[in-house]
Amino acid sequence: MQWGSLRLKIIISHMALLTLLMLCFSIVLYDRLLGDLSTNLDNLLQSRAQGIAEAIDTYWEIEQREAQHDGISPTRLSKTNNPNFIKIAQRWVIEESNRPDLLDIIVQISDSTGTVIASSPNISQRLIFPKDIFQDALNGRSRFDTVKAPFSSHAPTMLRVFTKPVSENATVVYIVQVASPMTSIHNALADLKTILMVLLPLTIVCTGLIGYALATVTLRPIAAMIKSVQQITARNLKLRVPVPRSRDEIHDLAVTFNDMLARLEQSFDTQRQFVQDASHELKTPLTILEGEISVALKKPRTPEEYESVLKSCLEEIERLNMIVGNLLMLARLEDRAMVAERQPCDIGQMLADIVADMEVLASQKQVRLAYVPTPGLMVTGIPEYLRRVFVNLIDNAIKYSFPEGTVTITAYRSGGSITVTVHDTGCGIPEQDLPHIFDRFYRVDKARATGGFGLGLSIARSIVGAHNGTISATSSPEQGTTFTVSIPEH
Ligand SMILES: Nc1ncnc2c1ncn2[C@@H]1O[C@H](COP(=O)(O)OP(=O)(O)OP(=O)(O)O)[C@@H](O)[C@H]1O
Ligand SMILES: [Mg+2]
Repeated sequence: MQWGSLRLKIIISHMALLTLLMLCFSIVLYDRLLGDLSTNLDNLLQSRAQGIAEAIDTYWEIEQREAQHDGISPTRLSKTNNPNFIKIAQRWVIEESNRPDLLDIIVQISDSTGTVIASSPNISQRLIFPKDIFQDALNGRSRFDTVKAPFSSHAPTMLRVFTKPVSENATVVYIVQVASPMTSIHNALADLKTILMVLLPLTIVCTGLIGYALATVTLRPIAAMIKSVQQITARNLKLRVPVPRSRDEIHDLAVTFNDMLARLEQSFDTQRQFVQDASHELKTPLTILEGEISVALKKPRTPEEYESVLKSCLEEIERLNMIVGNLLMLARLEDRAMVAERQPCDIGQMLADIVADMEVLASQKQVRLAYVPTPGLMVTGIPEYLRRVFVNLIDNAIKYSFPEGTVTITAYRSGGSITVTVHDTGCGIPEQDLPHIFDRFYRVDKARATGGFGLGLSIARSIVGAHNGTISATSSPEQGTTFTVSIPEH
């Protein structure tokens, strides 16, 4: 696999994105679990402290009722510095601290001077908390703290402590402290960490492998396409890339590429054909020239004979000149470098001028030209080029008409375009030739001595195309032909 390959890029970016997502997910999960467990523990400690204070008060009330019944003095009824209250607190601790739900909870009860008066047996030594905890408690404020202290016989552990002052007549009389080791939270978080540390790389590696396999399968048609394309040169444009069966982007790419190859092939064929035709067309007058000159040079000639040969040569040179001129024009039209020269043209007027100019030619062939001038038909274009289109169409119509025939020219506005039709009553064009008459050097009957090059219609099509217009022909043999040109209106 190449380092810059698409497959590798897809896999690496996929894995990098997945790693990032998984890391974010893990951090959020860890944070939520820590938050939830801490809140649960705090709620538990708070409710335990509340329960303990209520239990002690219940004991104390029973004790008080008994004392009142025995007629004992009210001084003995105060909780502060009262040995009876201390005994009750201790009794509660002994009786209640064995309850299963309190096994893991340390309870420590202190009086208002900070002296511990009772503590649960699961405490290995007195818990000494920072002074500010007591100060806050004496001021009537409950608080949560996290401290490091020994628990049971274990080494010092992290404890979460809730300190709750209990007041009587707005004076703090004793302080309940409940604490719980944070081991369960730490264990749960450590478990989660282990799971994530195993799952994270495992998921990423698995995704990488699956991604690699998927990318290989997905890109396989592209590899096949690359191989085929490497074999295609200008000489074997017949080759095509394999089209995958699945209807996806790669399928579309292969189809588009094959279409492009087909167009290229056709354009190469056209070019080849064009070079052949052009060489052939140029070769004929050149051969005639060569023949005439070499015959003339065989023996001395009279000045009249030389003049006649030179005149004949001049005719061939004029023909060559016209072919080259037409080819140059076609090349220039394909370049489409004529946008700047456009100007408004009055088609109606242009046709009237052309008809007037061609009257002589038509009358020589005894053909009648019928045109009713139509004013105000404006298009944007190059007058010289547009004139060439219509001259060629009318010239063809006259050329291929029978004597006494009529060439009818009409011009009108239709759907945002100016349409011109040239209709003749001539020999017509056979159906099989109709699709080819706009090809370069195409002549229906080459043997017919019309003197044309077969370039007029292909030049006309290029000019009309450069004006964003269309040109088409309909014909029925022996009935006549109609050429229709449409050019967007000015
Ligand atoms: N009005 C028409 N009636 C019958 N055939 C036509 C008509 N116009 C064109 N054709 C046929 O189409 C061919 C191509 O026409 P095109 O104008 O390109 O060439 P051309 O007239 O032979 O030569 P050029 O115009 O280059 O002097 C003609 O040779 C002719 O066979
Ligand atoms: Mg022509």
